[in-house]
Amino acid sequence: MSQDLPSHERWAILEWSTGRPREWFIARPESEWLSVAEAPLVTRLFAARTAGQPLAYLLGEREFYGRRFWVRPGVLIPRADTELLVDAALEVARNGLRILDLGCGSGCLGISLALELRARGRVCSLTMVDTSPVAVATSRNNARWLGVDAEVLLGDWWEAIATNGDSAQHPRFDLVVSNPPYVRPDDPHLQMGDLRFEPSQALVGHAPTADGLADYRRILKGVPAHLAPGGMLLLEHGHDQQSDVLALVRQAGLVDAQGLHDLSNRPRAVRAFAPPPGHYD
Ligand SMILES: C[S@@+](CC[C@H](N)C(=O)[O-])C[C@H]1O[C@@H](n2cnc3c(N)ncnc32)[C@H](O)[C@@H]1O
Repeated sequence: MSQDLPSHERWAILEWSTGRPREWFIARPESEWLSVAEAPLVTRLFAARTAGQPLAYLLGEREFYGRRFWVRPGVLIPRADTELLVDAALEVARNGLRILDLGCGSGCLGISLALELRARGRVCSLTMVDTSPVAVATSRNNARWLGVDAEVLLGDWWEAIATNGDSAQHPRFDLVVSNPPYVRPDDPHLQMGDLRFEPSQALVGHAPTADGLADYRRILKGVPAHLAPGGMLLLEHGHDQQSDVLALVRQAGLVDAQGLHDLSNRPRAVRAFAPPPGHYD
């Protein structure tokens, strides 16, 4: 078996390819592990992973907040870091939340929130938006697979959300969560690891600026029209972008803006609230 891969990846490939658990393999000699029919698939996956292809794309899945989400090339691979947004949103869990996940990718954020709220006896409505047709299809599949009712819209940030042209009729949300593209276009990490295979519109966005903040500006422009009074906005950001994102959020007229830190105490998200009606600057 390929010794070039970390052992947890070797086990993941073996278990996924055969549908048999690790204990089954451990109980027998390696020469008995794979049938003649199974060996080519395992060999191909080991080779592809050794060549750098993301494990999540090879297996078509990744765990997020304790659940399995389908992923495929063209969709960002869910990151454990993003679970911070789920934890932060659940601090204000209440019944009847209208939730919007902007830039949903696999749908991991919005769907996890809906399921965690349900587990706490709360109902919510969930809308998800992405500009990528592959992401929209993947989010729809994940919502169906995990048993969540969700409206998943294809389009550019707020433009995806229908209005009849009358700003008073804009759909309003109580909770808007987003992990937008924020990688700077010259970031050397783009040439490393899984990032080499992930869609650039998910990492740097469609019209990136050198500071990586272009999509925060675009998202924040639409917040006054769409975040209900007292509603919460939660934004993930890069580890060195918190002060910039806090400044943008305050400039947009949001109140009680606060930086959040992950379990390693790195600054990774911002939380802010819509002011009462008529109080936007
Ligand atoms: C960093 S990924 C986050 C995906 C998912 N929320 C997650 O955490 O795994 C950013 C997502 O925003 C989407 N996106 C980029 N530009 C967009 C735009 N202008 N309008 C809507 N979605 C956009 C990308 O396609 C991508 O799915």
